[in-house]
Amino acid sequence: MDDLLALLRAAGEPTRLRILSILSTGEMTVSEMTQALLQSQPRISRHLKLLADAGLVVRFPEGSWVFYRLNETNENYALVDQLIALLPPDDQTLLRDRERLDRVRAERATRAQEYFAANAADWDDLRARHIREDLVEAEMTTLLSDTKCDLLVDLGTGTGRMLEIFSPHASRAVGFDINANMLTIARARLDHPDRLHCQVRQGDCADVPLEDGAAGVVIVHQVLHFLDDPARAVGEAARVLAPSGRVLIADFLPHEVEALRNEHAHRRLGFSDDEVIEWLNEADIVNVEARHLQPRRDGDLVVGIWTGVKAEA
Ligand SMILES: C[S@@+](CC[C@H](N)C(=O)[O-])C[C@H]1O[C@@H](n2cnc3c(N)ncnc32)[C@H](O)[C@@H]1O
Repeated sequence: MDDLLALLRAAGEPTRLRILSILSTGEMTVSEMTQALLQSQPRISRHLKLLADAGLVVRFPEGSWVFYRLNETNENYALVDQLIALLPPDDQTLLRDRERLDRVRAERATRAQEYFAANAADWDDLRARHIREDLVEAEMTTLLSDTKCDLLVDLGTGTGRMLEIFSPHASRAVGFDINANMLTIARARLDHPDRLHCQVRQGDCADVPLEDGAAGVVIVHQVLHFLDDPARAVGEAARVLAPSGRVLIADFLPHEVEALRNEHAHRRLGFSDDEVIEWLNEADIVNVEARHLQPRRDGDLVVGIWTGVKAEA
């Protein structure tokens, strides 16, 4: 009963309820919350500490940023979920919080879009800056060597490199990306007699325009670290996978190259196995395996490749 009371006390305050409400839309930094709620950082931090102490939110520092998210592992999380669901959808304070949050996110998305728009032509060089691409691609090729499917999906396809390599494994292959400039380069790359079964479409990997169970393979290569809500993209990857379909995610392991945020629009400085595996498990992906590719050159980062299979219905 003590835990339940602590939870109710922590949630039972206007600002803290507002924080829970905006965190239900995805993980967030303190600075983003101060902009959404128009309250000072010390004040928001004080409320966040109370929420974290009561186990309602989890805090994870990463470089100079600190992220918060709802603590879905709390045994009373269902109650938090219900509280959030009970918030009146027409409450003016909550609506204004959401509007400001949408603006903060839109500004960040614009900055990231501008980065990719400006760098689309150079992307194939840039992508090899911190990793030996050939090694990652060789490992992924081995992992998919026995796989054949009807539809292969590449989320955050960029200039379409994954489609170029892996489309021979599928009767049809489609890449989604939010950035039109990247897609222009991808289309040129896919304009080849061997790739007539490939196409790219503009689309957000937080809301993939495909039906449940449509794909036999989904690839998410070096995309999660740009996203507001990487867990949601993993959920979308799993949703569009057919039972027994395979998902393959490649991204950085946790690192400290803060400059990637400012200079290359990264939001997250890599991901731990625990984090990615939890997202995959929550999305009904089983037989999850993690591989780490160690750097071979100074300045390279460790790359993780996480694979799994969609559970049978
Ligand atoms: C680092 S690039 C990787 C591209 C490609 N997967 C590769 O390995 O070359 C990341 C790509 O993710 C795209 N992206 C970022 N946010 C996205 C979103 N919400 N939905 C779809 N694509 C997104 C960017 O436009 C960019 O093309």
